[in-house]
Amino acid sequence: MKYQRIVVSQYGGPDVLHVVEEEVPEPRPDEVRVKILAAGVGMPDIMAREGIHPETPRVPFTPGWDLVGVVERLGDQVSDFNTGQVVAAMPISSAYAEYQCLKKAELIPVPLGLDPAETVSLLLNYVTAYQMLTRSAKVKSGQRILIHGATGGVGTALLQLGRVLGLTMYGTCSSKGAPTVTDLGGTPIDYGRKDLVQEVLRVTGDGVDTVFDPFGGAHMWQSRQLLRVGGKVVAYGTTTTLRAEGLGSKRSGKRNPLHGIPIFGLYIAGGLLLPGKRRIVPYSIQWLKRLRPALFREDAITLIDLLRRLQIKPIVAHRFPLSQARQAQELLAKGGVIGKIVLVSNELKPEKSTG
Ligand SMILES: NC(=O)c1ccc[n+]([C@@H]2O[C@H](COP(=O)([O-])OP(=O)(O)OC[C@H]3O[C@@H](n4cnc5c(N)ncnc54)[C@H](OP(=O)(O)O)[C@@H]3O)[C@@H](O)[C@H]2O)c1
Repeated sequence: MKYQRIVVSQYGGPDVLHVVEEEVPEPRPDEVRVKILAAGVGMPDIMAREGIHPETPRVPFTPGWDLVGVVERLGDQVSDFNTGQVVAAMPISSAYAEYQCLKKAELIPVPLGLDPAETVSLLLNYVTAYQMLTRSAKVKSGQRILIHGATGGVGTALLQLGRVLGLTMYGTCSSKGAPTVTDLGGTPIDYGRKDLVQEVLRVTGDGVDTVFDPFGGAHMWQSRQLLRVGGKVVAYGTTTTLRAEGLGSKRSGKRNPLHGIPIFGLYIAGGLLLPGKRRIVPYSIQWLKRLRPALFREDAITLIDLLRRLQIKPIVAHRFPLSQARQAQELLAKGGVIGKIVLVSNELKPEKSTG
């Protein structure tokens, strides 16, 4: 049987994404073959395509951090899953495909009846948001937080979870995104304002307990100024430097897994050494998953349960067919997307891109 997957043939712009057709792989004894129903499209996929994300595989590779699918065939040593069962996984690459063989230890059971596109949005974005809130910042009910990029995939997850945890929330966004921040329980602050620091200090009184910063670079310095004494910046990305370099452009890239890391380290050290009891703490979902896989599993299960109990509802911005992975990445790179873009299998009736 043939199947399709997306391949990045060399590092670069969207035109390095190709659809290839091959024989469906057979699972090894400790693996399960999964028919993929939904795969998340995220900023790290674009960064890996350009060769600049720390998790960039060598070319050729299939991108895609997270997936939800149906167990379709069991390896000889697998007895704890059944065919037809719905599962989720975050393999970090390879999810942009119709089928994938995964080690059974990677699989998280998903109850029947959940929307695969909403469920896949929980893995990278909501686990990131949940672990940053509860494990990095250790927030307490009643505290104030500021979320940069509040209408993005991780930003909307932080808002929904912050509401469940009883936090007072502020979110930077464009004017178009302001109603979404308000709907999700936050106070919107226009990220285009020149006086952003003064405005945050004005609306909050004396700053916030935690700032969530996906931008990195000098932006972390600005985030530190928004903290009350004893507060933390949780730093989890390098989007600023990427946008400055033309994210989503057609330039050809070069693999650089250390992109942005040295400067990131410098700012974290600065945060520790400078007076004022305001720290910068880094967060990386992939490192926490590698070092503490049980925590990743536990947190993903907690979030799937919150979805089942309707306490959270991921915003799925667009559902594209796998064959339009390129259009999906182009749309995300352009900006202005509210929530998560998901590639869904044809049986889930994807919308067609107009681009
Ligand atoms: N460390 C980790 O474990 C981890 C895990 C997940 C993600 N990440 C990183 O987190 C970052 C965000 O990921 P994502 O999937 O949430 O991306 P996303 O969905 O594209 O969201 C980014 C958001 O930032 C907004 N934005 C752009 N410029 C801004 C500015 N100057 N001020 C405030 N907001 C601004 C965008 O708004 P507009 O569209 O209106 O411009 C968009 O809403 C990426 O760098 C990703 O690699 C890290």
